[in-house]
Amino acid sequence: MGRRLWRRRALVAACLGAALLLLLNAPLLAPPAFENRAVGSSWLGGKRRSPLQMLYDLDQGPRSALAEVHRQRRDLLRRACSHHTRRQRLLRPEDLRHVLVDDAHGLLYCYVPKVACTNWKRVLLALSGRGPGDPRAIPAHEAHAPGRLPSLADFSPAEVNRRLRAYLAFLFVREPFERLASAYRNKLQRPWSAAFQRRFGTGIVRRLRPRPDPDALVRGHDVRFAEFLAYLLDPRTRRDGPFNEHWERAHALCHPCRLRYDVVGKFETLAEDAAFVLSLVGAPGLRFPEPPSWAQAAARDRAARLFRDISPFYQQRLYGLYRMDFLLFNYSHPSYQRLR
Ligand SMILES: *[C@@H]1O[C@H](CO)[C@@H](O)[C@H](O)[C@H]1NC(C)=O
Repeated sequence: MGRRLWRRRALVAACLGAALLLLLNAPLLAPPAFENRAVGSSWLGGKRRSPLQMLYDLDQGPRSALAEVHRQRRDLLRRACSHHTRRQRLLRPEDLRHVLVDDAHGLLYCYVPKVACTNWKRVLLALSGRGPGDPRAIPAHEAHAPGRLPSLADFSPAEVNRRLRAYLAFLFVREPFERLASAYRNKLQRPWSAAFQRRFGTGIVRRLRPRPDPDALVRGHDVRFAEFLAYLLDPRTRRDGPFNEHWERAHALCHPCRLRYDVVGKFETLAEDAAFVLSLVGAPGLRFPEPPSWAQAAARDRAARLFRDISPFYQQRLYGLYRMDFLLFNYSHPSYQRLR
């Protein structure tokens, strides 16, 4: 890399870093009204209040039970961040890849795969008018198509900071072990993820099996859950590069101790939390595509079944690997975790 280019990148990183640190220290919800003059989006016609202003209003008045839950989650996140993180490296623009931008409504959404992110992308596409008005009518592959929704990584540091100040930022998280079980099932276990099995399964088979079956070496189709976990815990895996986004830790995707998140939604209370965000957006008629009511319990049961065969020793090491997600988002050791 040329010297000039390197210097420019360093400067970009420094600007971002300084500004983001500033944000972290600023009171969580300074009156955002005056910021909006700078944003210049369509909802600034004067009548509509931005989602961030709506949240600010909610926090000023008598709080609803739901608004109170969200205030407590924000506080807990902030306390956990100051307690558990030390000096951190500066954020680079590419660290913001997962933060999707809706300029028309003043929203930032950090997507965490395996936490209803397909449905959130559908909702953002429906909101933006770049798809059918009903999110459920948008096929999954279209919701995930690269470039359909802009990400913060596409903007200059000044543009990034402007949006970070004035927009409502939210993310959705999930109990880390259940998310892992879901990633395993969807990407390595199921017959229709042949591409993922070839991409990751073959490597896992090659590395972990002393005498691998030639068919498994080519297809990577029969990786067991225990092998998947051994692959995650193997130090070589992280040395080779960041985890794939489906099992990367939420805090490493969204940087919740560096960016100010206004709403921390949870998969466990997806319907209420999604409705809360949409009520701040003020999009009447837009409904979050809810999974059927039995789906959550079924996912929890599947996770419990998968973890039943995993030794307490492995579970404890896995907890260590995902510890920050447990702490920052207030998850306790799952009840099926056998820790004796
Ligand atoms: C954290 O989790 C505990 C136990 O589940 C719960 O009682 C408490 O209300 C949670 N706190 C926040 C701020 O969500």
